[in-house]
Amino acid sequence: MIGGRILFGGDYNPEQWPEEVWPDDVRLMKQAGVNSVTLGVFSWAKLEPRPGAREFGWLDRLMDLMHENGIGVVLATPTASPPPWMGKLHPETLPIDEDGRTVWWGSRQQFSHSSVVYRQYAAAITEDLAARYGSHPALTMWHINNEYCTHDWGEEAARAFRTWLRARYMSTDALNEAWGTAFWSQRYDSWDEIIPPRRAQYLKNPTQVLDFKRFTSAALMECYLAERDIVVRHTPRIPVTTNFMPLWTGQDAWQWSRHEDIVSVDIYPDPKDPLAGQYNAMIGDMTRSQARGPWMLMEQAAGPVNFRGVNHPKPRGLNRLLSLQSVAHGADAVCYFQWRQSRQGAEKFHSGMVSHAGEHGRTYQEIKQLGAELALLAPEVGGTQVSSQVAILHDWESWWADQQDGRPSTGVEYPEIVRAWHRALWEAKIPAGFAHPEHDLDSYALVLIPHLYLLTDSAIDALVAYVRDGGTVVCGFHTGVADRDDRIRDGGMDARLRELFGIRTIHEWWPLDAGETVDCGAFRGLLWSEEIEASETAETLAGYKGGELDGLPAVLRKGRARYLSTLPEPDALRAIISGVARDAGVRPSLENLPEAVEAVHRGDLLFLLNHSRETVTFDIPGDRRHDLLTGTEVSGRVELERYGVRVLRS
Ligand code: GLA
Repeated sequence: MIGGRILFGGDYNPEQWPEEVWPDDVRLMKQAGVNSVTLGVFSWAKLEPRPGAREFGWLDRLMDLMHENGIGVVLATPTASPPPWMGKLHPETLPIDEDGRTVWWGSRQQFSHSSVVYRQYAAAITEDLAARYGSHPALTMWHINNEYCTHDWGEEAARAFRTWLRARYMSTDALNEAWGTAFWSQRYDSWDEIIPPRRAQYLKNPTQVLDFKRFTSAALMECYLAERDIVVRHTPRIPVTTNFMPLWTGQDAWQWSRHEDIVSVDIYPDPKDPLAGQYNAMIGDMTRSQARGPWMLMEQAAGPVNFRGVNHPKPRGLNRLLSLQSVAHGADAVCYFQWRQSRQGAEKFHSGMVSHAGEHGRTYQEIKQLGAELALLAPEVGGTQVSSQVAILHDWESWWADQQDGRPSTGVEYPEIVRAWHRALWEAKIPAGFAHPEHDLDSYALVLIPHLYLLTDSAIDALVAYVRDGGTVVCGFHTGVADRDDRIRDGGMDARLRELFGIRTIHEWWPLDAGETVDCGAFRGLLWSEEIEASETAETLAGYKGGELDGLPAVLRKGRARYLSTLPEPDALRAIISGVARDAGVRPSLENLPEAVEAVHRGDLLFLLNHSRETVTFDIPGDRRHDLLTGTEVSGRVELERYGVRVLRS
C-alpha cells in the first residue's frame, strides 16, 4: 500500500509499441483505476544499446507521462536480460549448464550470477538509473531484476562455489566429513579439485548437490543485494523488492525476504485447476509469512498464460475472485504481467490487462471493474493484518536435500505434500501461516510439519521445547531423517523426535507405487508407509490393515504430538487436522460454510469468497454488516453468485 492505495497495475512494456500508443495506454489505465506500473524489467538493450552507451530519453518521457497522470512507477533494474552484445563481447557472462553447454542469448536471463563482468555492467546501469530517477516524483518502488532463477555450472561459478565452501567449512577435512566423501573415493585433497555437480557417470554426491543449491541461492542473493545497496544509497526512503516465483525451488525465500522492504511474488494458478483458489491462498499465506505483514502480488495473469501444455483463459469472474482473495490474504498490491498483451515475441499468447481484443474485450472490462473495487477497499484495508494460529513448517534446505536422485521414492514431490497439508486447512476453513523450522513458534497454537526430511539440531530442539511448553504438533512422514549435512540419523528419525512421537524405531520406509494406496482402517494412505515400532508411551490412532505392515501403527499420538507415517487421502487429512486444531483451541474462520465458500478475516473485514460456478446461499452469524463492494447492509442470509465476493465490515 503506497499513498493509501492498493497498488493496481502491472508490468508495462511500452518499448514494444510505437509512442503513439502511449497516450491510449494512459487513457485506458486511468479509466481502469491503474495507479502503478512496473517499467523497465527487460529494457537493458534499449537503455544500453552498446556497451556503456545510455539512452534514457524514452524512459524520461514515460516517467513524466506517468507522473502527470498520477500513476506511480515501480522502476525495475533491467538486469534480468542482458543485451546480446554482452554475450558476444564477454562470453564469460553466459551461464554454462550442467553438461558444459553455453546458455545463449535469444531468450532472457542468460547471465551467470558469478560473472564479475556481468555484475559490473549490472551495477553500472543500476547506478545510472538510480542517479537519474532517484528523485523523480513518479518513483514509488525499486524492483530489482526479475524472478532470479539462473544456474551456472561453469568455471567462474566453480571458483565462486569454492570460495563459498571455504567460508562454510574452513578446511577440506571438514568438507570431506560433511560431504561423506569416503563413499566412492570422492575425497578432496585441495580446494581446486572441487567442482559444481556437473554431468557425472552415475548418482552425484548428495551433500555436494545440496551445497550447490545453497550456494546458487546465495550467489543470486549477492547479485540482488549489490543492486539493492546501490538504489538504497541513492534513495534510502524508496522501498525495494524483487519478485519471487511461488514455492520455487531455486531460491531460499526465507533468507531473501529479510532483505526486502516489500516482499512480492508472481502467482499463476491454473484456471482449470478446481483447487486454483487453494493454490492462490497457499502462496498468499506463504508470502505474507515471509513478509511478516502485507505483501505485493507483483504478477498474475488477467487471462491465459502461455507456459502450460494447454493454456486456459480465466472464466468470467475468476480473475476478480482470485485478486480479491489475495487482498483477503494480506496483499496490498494486485498487479499483473502485463499491461498490454504483446503482438510479438515469445509471450504473444500470454494475456495482458488489455488483451488483443482491446478496450471492449471482456478481459479489460473485468479489469476496469476490479480497479474500481480495489479503490473502494483501499481505505478499509490499509494497516490491517491477517493472522493465523497455525503454522505450516516449510524449508528450502530440506526440499533441496530431499528431492534428489537415489532416494526411496521419486513419487514424493515436496511441493505437492506441502500443498496437500495446506489444502486440509483451507478446506477446513482454518487460516494458515507458514514458518521456517527455526523460527520462534510460540505464537502458534498448532504447528504442522508436512514433510521435512532434513531438520537441524536446533530446529529439533525448538520443536521439542515447543511441545513441552504446551504447543501441539502434527508431523508427516519421512521427517527428521537427515541432519544439516544430509547425514542420516540412526533409527529412521532423530532420537529426540522419536521420543517426542513415541517411536522406538522406524525399521523400514515402504514407499507406495503411483496410484497405490494403503489401508489404514478409517482412511487410505497415499505415497508412503512406514514400518514403525512404537514405544509404550505412544497411542496408536490408526493402524495398517493387510500387507506387510498389517497391525503396525500408521498414526501415532503421544500427548500433544502426532505422527502420520503416510499421507492420508484428502478428506482424512482434513478430518485429522481439523480435529487436532479443535482440541488446540483453533477455530475455523466461520462455522457452517458451504464447501465452496472461503471466509477470511483481515482486520475487521470479513471476506467471503465463492470458489464455485454455482450461486451459493448461507447464513452468517452476528449483527448487520456493511458490504463494502455493493454499499448494502447484510445480515443473516448471504447469497454469493458464481465466483462472487463480499467484503463485510462489522
Ligand atoms: C514471469 C515473468 C514475466 C512473464 C510471466 C509470464 O512471471 O516475470 O516476465 O514471463 O512470467 O507468465
